[in-house]
Amino acid sequence: MLIKKAQAIKFSEITEKKHYINRRQFLASSASLAASGLFIPHSDFQKDSRQRQKLTVEKRGEYVVQDRLTPYEEATTYTNFYEFSTGKRSVKELSRDFRTRPWSLSVEGLVEDKITFDIDELIHMFPLEERIYRWRCVEAWSMVIPWVGFPLADFVKKCQPTSKAQFVEFETIYAPARMPGQRTRVLDWPYTEALRLDEALHPLALMAVGLYGDILPNQNGAPIRLVIPWKYGFKSAKSIVKIRFVEKMPKSSWRKANPREYGFYANVNPDVKHPRWSQARERRIGEEGKRPTLIFNGYAEEIGHLYSGMDLKKNY
Ligand code: MTE
Repeated sequence: MLIKKAQAIKFSEITEKKHYINRRQFLASSASLAASGLFIPHSDFQKDSRQRQKLTVEKRGEYVVQDRLTPYEEATTYTNFYEFSTGKRSVKELSRDFRTRPWSLSVEGLVEDKITFDIDELIHMFPLEERIYRWRCVEAWSMVIPWVGFPLADFVKKCQPTSKAQFVEFETIYAPARMPGQRTRVLDWPYTEALRLDEALHPLALMAVGLYGDILPNQNGAPIRLVIPWKYGFKSAKSIVKIRFVEKMPKSSWRKANPREYGFYANVNPDVKHPRWSQARERRIGEEGKRPTLIFNGYAEEIGHLYSGMDLKKNY
């Protein structure tokens, strides 16, 4: 997310229009894949991280924006994952051999029972659905991505938080031997993020395990990550290993690094500028020029009530 680089995206880096994926074609092809009922056996996940591997998507239709999809190539090459590098176009190569099996996700804190899930158990626990979401980074670029996952709310309910739990915190894996960025002090590792419990229970909040019908590539946060489409991208922690239910608002990595620039809520808001740049407009990756940013990234109707009565300038 560092700083100043957002404006530095060159037009020459952007894929030509003819490479855009036509949404209808995409839906038709992913529907036929779903019909083929192809499931990825556990051991195949590690075969070759450069190879695209399909997931079975069981539901689609709800929460689908009509905007043109960002090309797969851009969404999986232009990535923010500081555990590997602060260079967006370096992460893909540096994360190529990162192993995501075995992988477990533990649930701690204010829950009836602490529990640990194996990732494959978790992936098969809920029907996977596809959601085409607008995706807005705090650096003023945006994409439109067909994520595959399950509602975070379903997972939260499974965890049985106690009545004391007010917030839920997400923690990324800490593996400095395998993640070169964690051998630098760019952030206080491990990366953590958090949501208010009612935000986590909103049906738009997604636990993603795939995109474009494929399993999540390493650079996009394999094997499991958050996708909170009405908030700036940094809220959506990647490669999650721990979820903790707590009473008090946790201090997440970016707030620790710079509380003036990165607030807890991080709701997309064109009227609240970042201290160093405006958030009024954004560059949609794969398009020329800039477009206006929408309040709550265009999801005001769905989630606006979560913040009614709050001063969004103070609670940025
Ligand atoms: N999660 C971890 N663990 N580490 C990171 O550096 N970057 C965040 C977020 N989640 C980040 C992370 C930021 S700043 C953004 S914009 C999104 O991931 C980018 O997701 P994408 O690369 O899949 O588009």
